[in-house]
Amino acid sequence: MKLMVIGGGGREHAIIRALKKSPRVDTIYALPGNAGMEGDAILVPIGAKDIPAQVDFAKSHGIDFAVVAPDDPLVLGAVDALTEAGIPCFGPKKNAAMIEGSKVFAKDLMARHHIPTAACRVFETLPEALAYAETAPLPQVIKADGLALGKGVIIAETREDAKKALHEMMADKIFGESGSKVVMEEFLTGPEVSVLAFTDGKTIRPMVSSMDHKRAHDGDTGLNTGGMGTVAPNPYYTPEIAKTCMETIFRPTIDAMAKEGRPFAGCLYFGLMLTPQGPKVIEYNCRFGDPETQVVLPLLESDLFTILEACAKGTLDQVDVKFSDKHACCVILASDGYPSHYEKGFPITLPKEPEHGYIYIAGAARKDGQLVTGGGRVLGAVAVADTLQEAIDQAYALADSIQFENAYCRRDIGKRALAAGKEQ
Ligand code: AMP
Ligand code: GLY
Repeated sequence: MKLMVIGGGGREHAIIRALKKSPRVDTIYALPGNAGMEGDAILVPIGAKDIPAQVDFAKSHGIDFAVVAPDDPLVLGAVDALTEAGIPCFGPKKNAAMIEGSKVFAKDLMARHHIPTAACRVFETLPEALAYAETAPLPQVIKADGLALGKGVIIAETREDAKKALHEMMADKIFGESGSKVVMEEFLTGPEVSVLAFTDGKTIRPMVSSMDHKRAHDGDTGLNTGGMGTVAPNPYYTPEIAKTCMETIFRPTIDAMAKEGRPFAGCLYFGLMLTPQGPKVIEYNCRFGDPETQVVLPLLESDLFTILEACAKGTLDQVDVKFSDKHACCVILASDGYPSHYEKGFPITLPKEPEHGYIYIAGAARKDGQLVTGGGRVLGAVAVADTLQEAIDQAYALADSIQFENAYCRRDIGKRALAAGKEQ
């Protein structure tokens, strides 16, 4: 089988490495991929959002199956275009990707189908939003309706901050049209859990749970990032909570999408908060999470390609989806200064991967034959072990053996999960 994977970050590297293990997969093209994946895929310089070029490439190269990983092409309709061209494809169609593409749509869907989430108000004009900000309880959670590179959520501790955020989103349009509408929602508390789930639109198979670390610095301080590290499984996500989530959130969401004529086939990401009133949805993503994928897929024991193919065909009820009961930890090595200003172009020296370790490259380029840093998040150092403590220790040992000039990582990935695990 000849596969193409659209996207170019650490998540895509993890997907490619997992697909490579399948005896049914011969060749993998990455569009565009990054230089750090050269050993695992053939890089094709076609951007993740260039859908017409992706379709042309798939047709001219006899691609048997495509995996669309990032949110942008999914929301723009890459799966619709590839399917129309006769290329079997993993990922939701445009009308289902809207579950991430529009927060207003997602909130309305949850309201219509009684799926637990934070109470909210939607505003389409700045004066109305500002008037609400004057009286709404603090802190206020303000979200741009559309995609905003993961930066569209502001937690405002003061009314001044709330009003500033509303001005920036709705008047200055810092996120473009994504900020034309905003959702202002109730501030929830409790541990966060990420659950990715395979689904073909009917059957849903949740993957092992995980915990992201979104803030840039230790102790969950600093700016929000795309994610500085992850562990799996998430100790807060007990079998009992998993059962509640299946009954009150996962199953109802899949049924709601199907009932509304938008069957969701692909990976549905549930960002959950375990509140004192029970699990609630913080966000849906229409794709694999990054860096959740980097800890979830190394624990998958079944054949990833067979699962993805079954999701596309509508036969997920007929395949095995099995995860090991080990633990995984991913430490992201970023360029110092990320997510604000940082330099790139520094040579990267990579060690040999240990037996139960993986290095997934997120942002790298090739300069004069040398692998150099090429983004804010540069790579993820991942370890799989019998216990969480061992997974953390080994992921840090691997991270510390990788060198580039302005490398930065959090030193506390997994610390909260370890403490929680000991309480239980
Ligand atoms: P998102 O980009 O939607 O994942 O949101 C970023 C982060 O904002 C989440 O991981 C939560 O920590 C926080 N957040 C989002 N919505 C809420 C909410 N309603 N209450 C409390 N925190 C929230
Ligand atoms: N790690 C969060 C996300 O992928 O959106």
